Amino acid sequence: MRMVVLGLGYLGATHAACMAELGHEVLGIEVVPEKRAQLAEGRVPFYEPGLPDLMKRHIDTGALKISDSYAEAAEFADVFFIAVGTPQKKGEYSADLSYVDSAVEELVPMLRNDALILGKSTVPVGTASRLSERVDELAKDVQVEVAWNPEFLREGFAVQDTLHPDRIVIGAFPGGQAEALCREIYASVLEAETPMIVTDPATAELVKTSANAFLATKISFINAIAEVCDAAGADVTAIADAIGYDARIGRKFLNAGLGFGGGCLPKDIRAFMARAGELGAAEALTFLREVDNVNMRRRTRMVELTKDVCGGTLLGRRIAILGAAFKPESDDVRDSPALNVAGQIQLQGASVTVYDPKAMNNSRLLFPTLDYATSASEACQKADVVLVLTEWPEFRDIDPEQLGTVVRHRNVIDGRLCLPKSEWITAGWSYRA
Ligand code: UGA
Repeated sequence: MRMVVLGLGYLGATHAACMAELGHEVLGIEVVPEKRAQLAEGRVPFYEPGLPDLMKRHIDTGALKISDSYAEAAEFADVFFIAVGTPQKKGEYSADLSYVDSAVEELVPMLRNDALILGKSTVPVGTASRLSERVDELAKDVQVEVAWNPEFLREGFAVQDTLHPDRIVIGAFPGGQAEALCREIYASVLEAETPMIVTDPATAELVKTSANAFLATKISFINAIAEVCDAAGADVTAIADAIGYDARIGRKFLNAGLGFGGGCLPKDIRAFMARAGELGAAEALTFLREVDNVNMRRRTRMVELTKDVCGGTLLGRRIAILGAAFKPESDDVRDSPALNVAGQIQLQGASVTVYDPKAMNNSRLLFPTLDYATSASEACQKADVVLVLTEWPEFRDIDPEQLGTVVRHRNVIDGRLCLPKSEWITAGWSYRA
């Protein structure tokens, strides 16, 4: 089938390449010139395992084309995926839908055939309905259907999650073609017995926000338990393991530590609260405020712990921070807990050196005043304390004995409970977590 993907960020670029992999002819539209130029050569402007191979292969065969032209998009196909960003509005909790709106405003007047617009971006409930009305106003003598097909991919596993999703969700208005067309688009995925839930657009929108809200809640739950464990001298990892054996609870997303960041969970729970408020259901989601609070408290707690290890002040101390990405296997630093902590520690007078295997360029852009090193060992030169804030395998595998020879003091804080504690202690480190 022919299809267009509007917006080629993490979500759109992955979706476009994966649709080509499923055998479709895809035109990807990206308005940022630098990104577009890289993608057109088959290069991916961010780190995502497996995606560069897929991108290069399908650009080379011509199955995936890249353009900035909405006119070309309107000519190319009758199915359009919206994959543009929906960031948090500045100074507000709600989502900024201006990119979604612009895509629709620009595309629809150009359509000359009946078409299906499938939203993939994470949007507040009611967006598909609003867009559907707007599309009717904008469409010139053609029928344009709007449906929502939310995406559940995780950064770092984006290709795998798109080609082998846990489920496909379609939110369609009655009487349209969305379900039939989606069955065609995802035919090979559905053959693998992937469950498909067909529902109305509002429910589909809420499936996505509920999923992310649940994941965020799970993380903050275990981090709240971690606070109690700190006070009681108990072991939160053992608790996560023990309760995780209960299939109703499950062990995934119960890793205590520095908490969640990234371009999705934090902004999605806030947008969810804001939307519930607009709908008069604010009370239902007040617990998400606490989920957010517990999460943000992790960051201040990490700064306090570092100060404590430094003897009560950060002034003049040298702190090494290992990890800047919001999670491993990603170079994404949007709302990164690690960088947030690095910034706070620097503001309190310490000299901070950061190292991350993949996120150095993005970190430099966001926090140009921090120092950056080209290896973990370089970052730790003469450090008073080493903080491990993103659980990259490279950090797990560090030889504590060797690293001990470059630091000033053997103090380590394991912000992701990812280090082999006993090995560090045996090597003479004071280990805190
Ligand atoms: C998240 C969801 O997991 C995806 O299903 C969803 O599609 C995506 O948002 C989205 O809305 O686009 P992602 O942001 O890639 O995916 O990252 P996660 O793997 O969910 O991790 C989020 C944060 O939680 C990271 O900072 C991670 O370090 C943290 N985390 C995760 C924990 O602190 N503890 C855990 O046990 C798990």
